[in-house]
Amino acid sequence: MASLYDRADIYDLLETEKRYQITKRHWETVLAGKPVKTLLDVSIGSGNLTLPLAELGVELYGSDLSGEMLKRCGEKAEKKGFSVDLRTSDFRRLDENFDTAFDCVASTGNSLPYVPNGEVLDVLAQMDRLVRPGGYLYVDIRNWDKIRETKQRFYLYNPTFLDDGVRMNLVQVWDRHEDGSMTFNLLYTFERENKIFQKESFEEHYFPLGRRVLLDGLEQLGYKEIEMMCLPAFQEAVKPEEADWYCVLARKQEAST
Ligand SMILES: C[S@@+](CC[C@H](N)C(=O)[O-])C[C@H]1O[C@@H](n2cnc3c(N)ncnc32)[C@H](O)[C@@H]1O
Repeated sequence: MASLYDRADIYDLLETEKRYQITKRHWETVLAGKPVKTLLDVSIGSGNLTLPLAELGVELYGSDLSGEMLKRCGEKAEKKGFSVDLRTSDFRRLDENFDTAFDCVASTGNSLPYVPNGEVLDVLAQMDRLVRPGGYLYVDIRNWDKIRETKQRFYLYNPTFLDDGVRMNLVQVWDRHEDGSMTFNLLYTFERENKIFQKESFEEHYFPLGRRVLLDGLEQLGYKEIEMMCLPAFQEAVKPEEADWYCVLARKQEAST
């Protein structure tokens, strides 16, 4: 079964100007008062959760496993007149591709659960190596604790209306495996005049990543100031523990003298 990340064009069909503005406001909220001038996103994909930062004056760097997603990110950045340094890299091997420190190192788009829980601390350590003393490590993620508790199986998106009167629907069906991992089955349907004329399906395999594993990992790496917020962060009515998505921002200790 194809990976969605080989079809960056389809992945991006959910992205709208409204979502771009929401993401921009999210980052304004998260980074308010924080001296973040440079940021590396180690799972930047096609840049949906990161490119708005360029408009906020942040110097952007991005890496990802998927060349197709990076290509699309580069094209979108160019269209908007943003300069982004993009490199192909597995986030388990960042040391092979980066050797400078950033004000913030991020993994956006629920990407850490692509690796088994046992490897997550190594990924955080790889990210931490690139955070300057006093800088920040940021992760956003689905609320896997909630997914486990509710045993939710279907995740539905509102229809998206594309050009030429085409309506797109996306349904996700989540399968649970005995080893605790999950497969997300994604079905996109495209319809015109009440007839489905195209279907695209993809499978994504995840290792559910509970809050405790993430927060304990950060604490083991010496992070003490750790904030949890909803995604988007300006949603005050919901607690991060109850939201479908949340993010974690952790400040690295200043170097001891
Ligand atoms: C859901 S997408 C998120 C992309 C982007 N951050 C966004 O929010 O639109 C997940 C991304 O993680 C990337 N990814 C998965 N495993 C990875 C790994 N081991 N190293 C680096 N990137 C990885 C995929 O290629 C994909 O672009």
